[in-house]
Amino acid sequence: MTYDIKSMAVIGVGIMGSGIAQIAAQSGHTTYLYDAKAGAAEQAKEKLAATFQKLVDKNKITAEQAASANSHLIVAQQIEDLKDCDLIVEAIVERLDIKQSLMQQLEEVVSENTILASNTSSLSITAIAANCKKPERVVGYHFFNPVPLMKVVEVIRGLKTDPSIIDALDKLSRAMGHRPVVAKDTPGFIINHAGRAYGTEALKILNENVCDISEIDRILRDGVGFRMGPFELLDLTGLDVSHPVMESIYHQYYEEARYKPSPLTKQLLDAKQLGRKTNQGFYNYETDSKTGEEPAKFVERLEQYPKVWVAADFSEDKTQLEDYLTQQNITLDTNPEPQSDSLCLLACYGEDTTQAAIRLGVNPERAVAIDMLYGIAKHRTLMPSLVTKADYHQAAHSIFNLDGNMVSMIAESIGFVAQRVLSMVINLGCDIAQQNVATVDDINAAVRLGLGYPFGPIEWGDQIGSEKILLILNRISNLTHDPRYRPSPWLQRRVALNLPLTFTNEF
Ligand code: NAI
Repeated sequence: MTYDIKSMAVIGVGIMGSGIAQIAAQSGHTTYLYDAKAGAAEQAKEKLAATFQKLVDKNKITAEQAASANSHLIVAQQIEDLKDCDLIVEAIVERLDIKQSLMQQLEEVVSENTILASNTSSLSITAIAANCKKPERVVGYHFFNPVPLMKVVEVIRGLKTDPSIIDALDKLSRAMGHRPVVAKDTPGFIINHAGRAYGTEALKILNENVCDISEIDRILRDGVGFRMGPFELLDLTGLDVSHPVMESIYHQYYEEARYKPSPLTKQLLDAKQLGRKTNQGFYNYETDSKTGEEPAKFVERLEQYPKVWVAADFSEDKTQLEDYLTQQNITLDTNPEPQSDSLCLLACYGEDTTQAAIRLGVNPERAVAIDMLYGIAKHRTLMPSLVTKADYHQAAHSIFNLDGNMVSMIAESIGFVAQRVLSMVINLGCDIAQQNVATVDDINAAVRLGLGYPFGPIEWGDQIGSEKILLILNRISNLTHDPRYRPSPWLQRRVALNLPLTFTNEF
């Protein structure tokens, strides 16, 4: 069966439905608007006309394009008006029973070939289709808010969805200027699933008292290159939205340790400290802009520095550190064993400083570990051991401030901050590929466009070096015994065979 989508309808013209109608009308598709609330469809059409006019005023579209988009929007008075549509997208209230009965009701009205799509973000497409006469015509079509700006859409294959529908929605999405990504019907689909690692690992780090929220945000934003720190992001989304998603995905995967939420967000939710929308979240927003971010601490040049002895898991890290130290006129201790007064700088992966010092046989009182996962170009994370002496701690901090760059000094954490968060993000991306939720290409594109990360998780792993990610996860797993960190078989196999993480077998 082939489908050619020329006319469509949106049922439920709230935030999402209006956005979908906007891009559909702008791309020349006849689009019916229907809502159970009296007058809502007319209002949505008027609002969209105002939006098109604003776009004309800003020179984003021409007056002719606005007129054409307006002419493609038709208000439907009753559900029977939708009978000739090729596609119906529902964006009504997020309740399984209501969505199921809407689908059944639609089947009584529309033709044999009409595609019935749901914009649900958390319900199973297979379950929504369960009571339909033709469940193969039901598909997930999951847009993101705001629809015109978030240029990605998940096309979700229910257990029985006709594959030709996926092809038709692929074509339609591209015509509307969106990148379709095809997902198997699994909890969180691709984007809400892949997004579980960032916030939950940051919350776990906070809970372990490794450092404060400002420092975690700074490391991940300024060091690693995420657009926003995890706490800034949680404040933007609002805990009324994020916390239930965290809980729902955790439970839908039957308490899988990788997705475990934090008691902290539940408490903040109870206190109605939701984020920007309540002026108080992890940060304070009472004066329009964010306040409460602690500035980075800076240690001025010291009169004297100890010699520095460097140990690294990877030789390129050792070279990079020794080059930096030499540029800053710090004397290197190049002996095989550190001299008795040298600062021991440990570029380790997946450990805390205590464990690294013991493994390397150096005195933990003179040891400071450094996270080399994201390099030292802009920002550095340093981690003294529990017993590092104050003058060594101070010297290390000052050395890495000498060129004016920022240092985040954290308490002991098995795997620093960036290593933990990035290895969780990449490992989860690999697991999603292993579960065949989507292709590697679609996972990468979905995460870049839907979550705004600088890279997709699987391509990011290759860029950083998959052997480093595996080393981090193996060591953290061994030291914590927490199944959350167990490496994905997808990652393990490709590292063992020295293949890129993006490698897939074509047959
Ligand atoms: P909304 O509350 O802004 O709009 C829902 C609209 O549906 C309202 O106009 C309401 O009158 C209408 N409606 C409710 N029940 C109806 C029914 N039985 N028949 C016809 N119309 C009905 O909701 P929003 O945020 O647009 O969400 C809609 C759907 O999109 C939900 O399934 C939600 O999970 C999903 N979604 C929401 C996202 C968001 O960021 N808000 C993102 C992605 C998906």
